[in-house]
Amino acid sequence: MRPSAAIAIAVTTVAVLLGGTATASARPSAHDLPRLPAGFSLGVATSGFQVEGDNRDSNWLRYSDSGRVPERVGRAVDFHDRYAQDIALARATGATVFRFSVEWSRVQPAPGRFDPAGWAFYDRVVRAVVDAGMQPMITLNHWVHPGWEVDRGGWNRPGMADDMVAFGEAVIDRYAWARPSWVTFNEPTEYVRREVTLGGLAPSAIGIMTDGIVRAHRALYRHVHARQRDAVVTSNIAYLPIPGVEPFLEDVFPARTRTTLDVIGVDQYYSVSAGDVSASAAATGEFWRASQAPEAMYLVLRRLSQRFPGIPLYVVENGLATDPSGRRPDGYRRSDHLRDTVYWLQRAIAASIPVVGYNYWSLTDNYEWGAYTPRFGLYTVDATTDPTLTRRPTDGVAAFRRIAADRGVPNGYRPTRAPVACSLVAAPDSCVRPVTVP
Ligand code: BGC
Repeated sequence: MRPSAAIAIAVTTVAVLLGGTATASARPSAHDLPRLPAGFSLGVATSGFQVEGDNRDSNWLRYSDSGRVPERVGRAVDFHDRYAQDIALARATGATVFRFSVEWSRVQPAPGRFDPAGWAFYDRVVRAVVDAGMQPMITLNHWVHPGWEVDRGGWNRPGMADDMVAFGEAVIDRYAWARPSWVTFNEPTEYVRREVTLGGLAPSAIGIMTDGIVRAHRALYRHVHARQRDAVVTSNIAYLPIPGVEPFLEDVFPARTRTTLDVIGVDQYYSVSAGDVSASAAATGEFWRASQAPEAMYLVLRRLSQRFPGIPLYVVENGLATDPSGRRPDGYRRSDHLRDTVYWLQRAIAASIPVVGYNYWSLTDNYEWGAYTPRFGLYTVDATTDPTLTRRPTDGVAAFRRIAADRGVPNGYRPTRAPVACSLVAAPDSCVRPVTVP
């Protein structure tokens, strides 16, 4: 274990034993909750493999169809043919950003060969997003690479990074006109972990994949800025609320690429507090059993602003899992979770934490990497039982609309949940400097 990790755990343990010496870090009155500023980006997020259907051969299609994961992807929620309807639904929420990924295997089905039909699909998607008045946020790699790359060795092969750069540059050249923001790699550490777990990467090649992603990210960053000078480029952190572990993971990617990150992108979902280990439910796939503490958003942003001073923060993903009926054992509703989370974003802004955007994961229910059971969508879709794949609004839709229209929750709003006694989400800071609701 690295010394800093050991120190973090030690300090956390002391803080837990002391019962948390409460010194609230930010205490705005009920009347000074700032609205989300005019330039604040409010988006909805998706990814290609999880929603499109009609997939081409890829690492993930092979994992899906070989039984390595519980459920097959099938036609997902058919975004491929319903993109226009879904982009209209996104627009109707009041979102200003629409995040999606370009599937490498769809546009480049063979080495050196690009498929005009694959491009034509994304041309239509980008055009529809722009015509709807939203900014595209394009992810170049959301954990999926073509089957022909798998056959060549995948990320076990250092040359994979060069292929990824060539593909990414082609996407950037084609869509820079739409002035997107860019995510080079979605959650690099999770990509590596999943490749190892699912057999795509030898544990001995973790360094090759890690170095390859860092190298490809830097090259793609430079390419975006050559084509689109004022673009915002990031690669999002999969925030792991485990004391001692998260700082180590940040050393692996964002710390190595910080000079090529225009914003620190972060995906924040779960929290851990003293005595509550329910977040481990996320490891079993029963995401809806993981308890939620919405102030985790504030604590995570505060910690990242300290770790990466001078770089704005962007919440690239955040959301709430329910079971297929839309419920959770703790009764937390999507609308309440969303409002509570936005309250903590506004608190972060009040405390001068430089957060500039927030995307909701996800617009619709989708293929949760091996299962359709966890539901994250503002719109719910029964992918396995409803042949019509009807999009049905959850209570989250009206909440999102209100937030978008009002630029946040109003003064006087109180989160439905009080902050937990000792959140370890950004330990030791989160535990020794807890937040309060005035
Ligand atoms: C991923 C998404 C995923 C979401 C919910 C993130 O880690 O980027 O693809 O669906 O979490 O689990």
